[in-house]
Amino acid sequence: MAGLGVEPGRSLEVGCGFGRLSPYIAEHFLQHTAVDINQWALAEATRFYPQVSFSSASATELPFPESTFDAVITWTVLQHVPNALIGKALEEIKRVAKPKSLLILCEATLNAANPQKDEQHTHDRFPEFYADAFSGRKLLVSEFIAEIDRIPSMASPGRIMVFGPLSENR
Ligand SMILES: C[S@@+](CC[C@H](N)C(=O)[O-])C[C@H]1O[C@@H](n2cnc3c(N)ncnc32)[C@H](O)[C@@H]1O
Repeated sequence: MAGLGVEPGRSLEVGCGFGRLSPYIAEHFLQHTAVDINQWALAEATRFYPQVSFSSASATELPFPESTFDAVITWTVLQHVPNALIGKALEEIKRVAKPKSLLILCEATLNAANPQKDEQHTHDRFPEFYADAFSGRKLLVSEFIAEIDRIPSMASPGRIMVFGPLSENR
């Protein structure tokens, strides 16, 4: 984090599921907070990784003051947020992130070109959608991945995106 000019202070993981990534993210920060809306997954996460702080919260209503986190990480989560709510989720991420923070996203892109229906399992979006939403932040990393999930039936191409601190010349 230091190499990217970001403090290794507080990190927020939105949509942590059963916490498989949480300990690895926590290693890079002084204080890591992981949230999800799935109570069962949170209970499993707490059982597997008691050293990490897990709590219940939705991306659309993050119970944290503005400018709290040095990094916000969300891994294959926003693709599950329907069109009607994605704007609110991105506003919340921007609100709780410090201006000098990193935003780290991994998103499936397989169905990004398809018309999105609310009953669909995923609402994949093009990377440009996120670049637009986080305008004012430089896209530091935009890495294509052929399979973002190891489960063959769910394998989907996707993209890891890292958005840097808010530009001071906005
Ligand atoms: C594909 S799983 C990914 C879990 C974890 N990030 C990982 O990579 O193992 C998607 C997760 O997003 C969570 N999720 C979906 N909508 C959410 C929302 N609005 N706020 C927070 N979490 C959400 C689900 O409960 C689920 O745990």
